[in-house]
Amino acid sequence: MLELVVLISGAGSNLRALLDAARDAEYPARVVAIGADRDAEGLDLGEEYGIPTFTVPFTAFATRQEWGAALAEQIRPWTPDLLVLSGFMRLLPHDVVAEFSPAIVNTHPAHLPEFPGAHAVRDALVAGVRQTGASVILVDDGVDSGPIIVQERIPVEPDDSESTLHDRIKHVERRLLIQTVLDIANGTVDLKELARA
Ligand code: GAR
Repeated sequence: MLELVVLISGAGSNLRALLDAARDAEYPARVVAIGADRDAEGLDLGEEYGIPTFTVPFTAFATRQEWGAALAEQIRPWTPDLLVLSGFMRLLPHDVVAEFSPAIVNTHPAHLPEFPGAHAVRDALVAGVRQTGASVILVDDGVDSGPIIVQERIPVEPDDSESTLHDRIKHVERRLLIQTVLDIANGTVDLKELARA
């Protein structure tokens, strides 16, 4: 059974999908803690699903390094098999990546390496592309630059707004994330091998 710590910054709708998947006794992963860098709406899921939460506000620290050290201190006691960044909108400092690597995955609402960063859906719309996508990647020190574990194309419709497109992308992201965690648990995806490649 994989024990997951999930980090969020927002609504946590992808986290909810993972929590629902994990309610199935056959699903080989459980969320043991939920962490956030701010007072994120998705922290309410902790109460709803009976899972401990912690918050390490980015703005309360003088440097990214200090914030990262405090975040790692909160994560460490859970000894997670896998850290899942699910809508976590902060770049982890090198020390945190190094401590938990290669067992850190991130979901991203674009077909990486296209549209990395915090505004992937808006950027795809502004670029006028006919299709974008969803990706689950291994986290490295860069911005959405780690090895791709799985990704899928999603068409952009002519009348799409940022929110309609993002909603469609999130549906795919949820499926990819749930499958990725399953694949990591059953050994189909080998994070160490991916990190070496
Ligand atoms: C998701 O689309 C996730 O991929 C994205 O934030 C959304 C979180 O939604 N993450 C990034 O853009 C990271 N660069 P949620 O809080 O409803 O799950």
